Amino acid sequence: MSKTVHPNGPRTPATQPSSAAAPATAHAPSVALPLAFALTGIITLWVGLIWLAFRPDTLATYHYNQYVIALTHLFVLGWGSTVVMGAVYQLVPVALETRLHSEKLALVHYLTHVVSFIGMVWMFWRWDMKQVGHYGSGLALGIGLFAYNIGRTLRRVPRWNVIATAVASAVFWLGFAVFIGLCVAAAKCTYESAETLPATTFLGAMIHGLRDTANLVKRFDQISLMHAHAHLGMVGFFLMLIVGVSFRLIPMFTLSELQSPRRAAWAVGLLNLGLAGTFVTVAVRSPWKLAFTGVILLALGLYGGEIIAMLRARKRKGLDLGVRQFLTALGLLGPVGALAVVLSWPGLPMTALLGQLENLYGMLGVLGVVTLAIVGMLHKILPFLVWYGRYSQEVGKQRVPSFSELYSARLQAAAHWIYLAGLAGLSVGIVRAHAMGVRAGALMLIVSVTLLLANTYQILSHFWRPRRAPLATPSVPQLARKRNALGGEQSASGVPGAKSVSQQPPSIAS
Ligand code: HEM
Repeated sequence: MSKTVHPNGPRTPATQPSSAAAPATAHAPSVALPLAFALTGIITLWVGLIWLAFRPDTLATYHYNQYVIALTHLFVLGWGSTVVMGAVYQLVPVALETRLHSEKLALVHYLTHVVSFIGMVWMFWRWDMKQVGHYGSGLALGIGLFAYNIGRTLRRVPRWNVIATAVASAVFWLGFAVFIGLCVAAAKCTYESAETLPATTFLGAMIHGLRDTANLVKRFDQISLMHAHAHLGMVGFFLMLIVGVSFRLIPMFTLSELQSPRRAAWAVGLLNLGLAGTFVTVAVRSPWKLAFTGVILLALGLYGGEIIAMLRARKRKGLDLGVRQFLTALGLLGPVGALAVVLSWPGLPMTALLGQLENLYGMLGVLGVVTLAIVGMLHKILPFLVWYGRYSQEVGKQRVPSFSELYSARLQAAAHWIYLAGLAGLSVGIVRAHAMGVRAGALMLIVSVTLLLANTYQILSHFWRPRRAPLATPSVPQLARKRNALGGEQSASGVPGAKSVSQQPPSIAS
């Protein structure tokens, strides 16, 4: 059981399950770092969707072309990985009750990552694989720093648990995905200088090594290898993290407890096994890939059972929209899993429809499961980071708003429903290979992400326009007068729009 530590000191209410209420403060790094990762990611998502609206043919045609690959990496590296790695820096120390090994390294990682993913996407677009390799190496360096930083952090964990296993696995699979990505890029380059450069020099040894790697990689079917690489990133990094971190976040936000550590451990173990098998069988086009799809689905079944058990045992009855968005992401694993079974069916003839189903599978993975899970959690993490950065020092001295008063729940709800409608439209457009349908879906997603940006701006505006009021509580008649004078709701703090005023530092679970 972890301790509940408030920013101003420990105050664990005896009635609450302590692990459920621990706020992300005592062990967390400075707020600027995860905020920089999160903002970069959200803006990239927005840019990527605008790109899709301009070029809807990208998803309305088969996905083995430079534009889809460029756009995919904009989403997976610029949006998903950026936000998720920022959140890992923030949450892992909290979830595992330890400190981040080095914030400076994390900052170097951020800068390297941003330059590299932009360069990579640009070079994918131009299909200049040599430069993809160069920028990709920069990205790999950043991810190496991330892996080292998180690895050193995990070594300090007082009690190793299933969450630590999942995080360590996710970092491993990410590193492996990047390695395979670099090998695939190397296989698409030519090495004329290998003829003239002796292998005894450093440069010569490198060029010879790259040429040998390229010759090895070329023995594989290139589309199958791409699919194998894609699964390492999507299942190994994103899904593994979603699974692992939710064993901590779902109890935290719903006031519950992990119900069966054994079941959770089996889920993570089988996910690892299923992915290792999927990677090999997809890469070599073996009919056994269906069996490993089954192993992954079994892992997800166990995971789903644990999520349901944790939700049944929760003490907080209502589920806020952030949590419901996260659960919607998990629900989407149903159709994605069904598509996985169809697509891994042995001997299925390749038709235009099957190609579009592959597009749908990838899109629902990236813009469905991963994006909805991240957006749901962002509505918890962003207000918390800003509240902690802006108001935590003022608790007890001033009246300050609570987390939920930092953003608009109505904007969040509108954005969510528009997003789901956009996702449905996009899916239909993809299956029917209808560019205008894809564009219509993308436009709805743009509206939704614009609302997310507006909410993010509202949250961030507390940095330069803090809403706080003097401590003294006005009398009831005074309050009534104020309300009438303003012609609307006025919180007791004098903070317009605030419905309640927090005097206790809230936890991230609020
Ligand atoms: C240095 C890092 C990376 C490099 C150099 C790289 C390279 C590549 C290359 C060359 C392809 C196309 C393969 C081909 O044309 O045969 C590809 C496809 C793909 N990669 Fe990466 N990759 C990297 C990181 C990642 C990561 C971290 C993820 C996921 C988290 C990812 C997800 C994908 C996906 C989903 C595709 C398939 C795109 C499609 O279906 O059109 N990549 N990658």
